[in-house]
Amino acid sequence: MSWWRNASIYQVYLRSFADGNGDGIGDIAGLRDRLQHIAGLGFDAIWLNPWYPSPLADGGYDVADYRDIEPVFGSLADAEKLIADAHELGIRIIIDLVPNHCSDQHPWFRDGLWDRFHIRDTEELPNDWKSRFGGPAWSRLADGRWYLHLYAAEQPDFNWENPVVHEEFEDILRFWLDRGVDGFRIDVADGLVKDFGKPDAEQPYSDQDGVHDIYRRWRQIVDSYDGDRILVGEMWLPDPERFARYLRPDEMHSAFNFDFLCCPWNAGELKRVVDSTLAAHEPVGAPPTWVLSNHDVTRHVTRYGREKTGFSFADRQHGAPTDFELGTRRARAAIMLTAALPGGVYVYQGEELGLWEVEDLPDELREDPVWHRSGFTDRGRDGCRVPLPWSAQDGPSWLPQPENWQDFSVAAQTDDPGSMLSLYRRVFELRRGIAGDLEWLDLGEDVLAFKRGGLTCVVNLSDEPIGLPSTPALSSVPLVDGKLPSDAAAWIS
Ligand code: NOJ
Ligand code: CA
Repeated sequence: MSWWRNASIYQVYLRSFADGNGDGIGDIAGLRDRLQHIAGLGFDAIWLNPWYPSPLADGGYDVADYRDIEPVFGSLADAEKLIADAHELGIRIIIDLVPNHCSDQHPWFRDGLWDRFHIRDTEELPNDWKSRFGGPAWSRLADGRWYLHLYAAEQPDFNWENPVVHEEFEDILRFWLDRGVDGFRIDVADGLVKDFGKPDAEQPYSDQDGVHDIYRRWRQIVDSYDGDRILVGEMWLPDPERFARYLRPDEMHSAFNFDFLCCPWNAGELKRVVDSTLAAHEPVGAPPTWVLSNHDVTRHVTRYGREKTGFSFADRQHGAPTDFELGTRRARAAIMLTAALPGGVYVYQGEELGLWEVEDLPDELREDPVWHRSGFTDRGRDGCRVPLPWSAQDGPSWLPQPENWQDFSVAAQTDDPGSMLSLYRRVFELRRGIAGDLEWLDLGEDVLAFKRGGLTCVVNLSDEPIGLPSTPALSSVPLVDGKLPSDAAAWIS
């Protein structure tokens, strides 16, 4: 079976993973030093957020040069060494490709090659489209004309009606494939093709039919290389059937399942999302994926400790009362649920330490453009991007860590059998032996229970402890009088 069909993938937000040179910013050298952390947890691959030269107006999703490395992170030679080191440890490398937009510092934009962007010469705003970070999706060039940006003003959208843009990205794919990367995570994969005749309400910049031709072509390129390399799509789409179209056999290999990430901590709703995910993927033959957190959303320890446990960009619940003990307990159960499901699993760096959303960052340190573009109403995503604590000796970092993160550092958790880190290690070790289709079991209301081959996974979301069919091989918390307490999970083999 192809590796990506059931891969465990660890997401590295390079800037906040490990700092190799002591300037407070994570870098490739730091990641190379810490690869053993990821290998030791049993991951098959790393997905790296953008590492290209960038003014970092949007954490690197504003790319100034697609064929080089941001100097703060290292050099192209460092990237090649990282790929080699990772391969030696049996870990594949997936990089982030950002084809919807670039940086306003990209040479095409700086040199005024306007046919490669969406430019309009009108008095008023060309249409009513909104930036996803707030405000209008159009800003003015120095000459008064408008350019389109679905995100920050520093991120002009490419014009995919121009064949030069297609050629450029096909060449960029080859550039990195030649350097040994095992795949690409495609940013805003649904957004490249636009229908300018329609109003914002119809989302005419998302999921237009023409976008699929691009991925058919990319698939041919990726397939022409040896070694089972992949395309992973980032699409936030409301309709699972439309979503699955991107995963037809001649398009992408897999995509992030955000329905699962957004789902509240509720047995009925989780079961519904699992079923609808499996049903949508089955006809196209693609493996589902399961994601709890990433660099754009409120960390799930925090979400699960709140009254509203689901996630929505429209209301991040910043500062809502949070019971961290409860959130942590549920996060332990959630990873056992996630890792038992069929398909791929993504873990966002720091989840394995039980890190929470840092909500008390001083506002003046916030870098996420969402904060200013929302007119200072949405505090954005910095709180899930605070650098990881490795030990009590960590130096200062570009976003400050909460003081008690020392107690949650890798060093502090490594030898503690009750730590989140120890649980993740065990879960991802055992996950390698799980195979087979999912078959639901009925263990009562508010209990998720299913079998996959020889494994039975039970998650108790009810208020009462429940009896188990037999003694588990692993449980997220100790059993009480032989029963599985609420907000806990067990694996029985
Ligand atoms: C999705 C990325 O995950 C997010 O961090 C970024 O801001 C937008 N795409 C725009 O590139
Ligand atoms: Ca550094």
